[in-house]
Amino acid sequence: MDKITVIDHPVVARDLSILRNKTTGTDEFRAALGRIATILAYFSLKDLPLRTTTINTPITATDGCEIDTEIIVVPILRAGLSLVDAIINFIPDAKVGHLGMYRDEETHNPVDYYSNLPEGLDNGLTLVVDPMLATGGSADDAIGFLKKQGANNIRFISLISAPEGLERILKKYPDVQIITAAVDEKLNEQAFIVPGLGDAGDRFFGTT
Ligand code: PRP
Repeated sequence: MDKITVIDHPVVARDLSILRNKTTGTDEFRAALGRIATILAYFSLKDLPLRTTTINTPITATDGCEIDTEIIVVPILRAGLSLVDAIINFIPDAKVGHLGMYRDEETHNPVDYYSNLPEGLDNGLTLVVDPMLATGGSADDAIGFLKKQGANNIRFISLISAPEGLERILKKYPDVQIITAAVDEKLNEQAFIVPGLGDAGDRFFGTT
């Protein structure tokens, strides 16, 4: 898989417009995000290793396959929770770890407040999910922490990425693959993605 995958799909383009529109309400926002999350999950999982098994159809024995790696999904709270279900729908036995961090409104640096990770990070594919990659501070912190905990095969999945955040992660973690639905123009002075969609967590959870 390429270091960066930017999804080019008409359904994603239509749904991004719904998400970006400031008049979109919580219900429509959740539905559009859910659809894009499914497509992000599909692309994030498309080259998983398989092992061959033997299965018996009603007619005969034949080759089958199973996914040959453990999947660990790690949402960056809160907004990352919006991308978890789509992956679990494809990988029902995926483990889920949680990393709690929010971005300080003045310094724009991440503040860690929670972590709960499963065993086996060194033995599977870790999918870190967060809809917004802005300065990249949160992703940087999360990936660095996961590596210290033993994760050695990491993908970062985001809905919208800023060039600044992408560059930061690619430079610091050249082994991490990034799957995103859009690369926007820039960050503004408040480090919000432009044009972006505002605060994904607030819009998804209805807290604005
Ligand atoms: C947002 C977003 C990312 C982070 C991105 O979280 O969901 O976690 O900011 O910014 P960065 O790339 O500059 O670090 P927020 O602080 O709004 O917290 P929330 O998920 O609880 O809404």
